Amino acid sequence: MRAGEVLIFGDATSLEEAAAHEVVRTVRNAVARRGSCAFVLSGGSTPRGLYERLGEEPYRLGVDWSKLHLFFGDERCVPPDHPESNYRMVKEALLSRIPSLEKSTHRIRGELDPEVAASLYEKEIRRTVSEALPRFDLILLGMGADGHVASLFPNKEALMEPKRWVLPTVGPRPPRNRVTLTLRVINEARKVMFLVAGEEKALTLQRVLQEGDESASMSWPASLVQLKKGRLLWFVDQAAASRLENKLVN
Ligand code: 6PG
Repeated sequence: MRAGEVLIFGDATSLEEAAAHEVVRTVRNAVARRGSCAFVLSGGSTPRGLYERLGEEPYRLGVDWSKLHLFFGDERCVPPDHPESNYRMVKEALLSRIPSLEKSTHRIRGELDPEVAASLYEKEIRRTVSEALPRFDLILLGMGADGHVASLFPNKEALMEPKRWVLPTVGPRPPRNRVTLTLRVINEARKVMFLVAGEEKALTLQRVLQEGDESASMSWPASLVQLKKGRLLWFVDQAAASRLENKLVN
């Protein structure tokens, strides 16, 4: 079993509840220890329910949101009000419920040229988190059915980027132009939480989780998320976990 703890839930509600609880616990720990929390949000559709839950009681009351800096793992190269924008999804699900977060939300400027947006975002991370390789307190990730994470797609050289923290990439489906954190940054995190749901992810999840370390390959970018010093958690629903052996449903 690849390093990491796999938590399996019977349905979306119990997965979101448990994930919201883990997010609040992680944020509170970071604020207690370091005075602030640098939290990277995932895009896509799976995390929307979690963001809505974080914006409601009791979770909203559990965090001193003024101590958070919100970032994005990736963004589609579209304007921030575009239906495909990850920022727009987070704004609707979370920022609309906690407006004070807007000023400490560092979006990727999807409306700009991808290379320009990537370098501006890296500068923003240097300015607000660290001039050295940043160690984010929490990074949320989803996983595509092809095994991609953030906007790091299978068999692309962006997966092996040795230096940059943020890169423009091109995905297989529109909106194809993307900007993404690199694995170099993701694997430095204190904690990564994957949120994976749905039958269409089951085969890929089995490959990523139940093949040995030697199977970590560019064909399955999620298999390359191997934290140097952090804690890797998988929050998955029963449908996505249907091909895993020896599983225990929470
Ligand atoms: C994005 C995400 C992407 C997403 C996966 C899973 O911008 O689309 O960052 O990596 O997490 O594609 O997406 P779903 O949650 O919609 O299945």
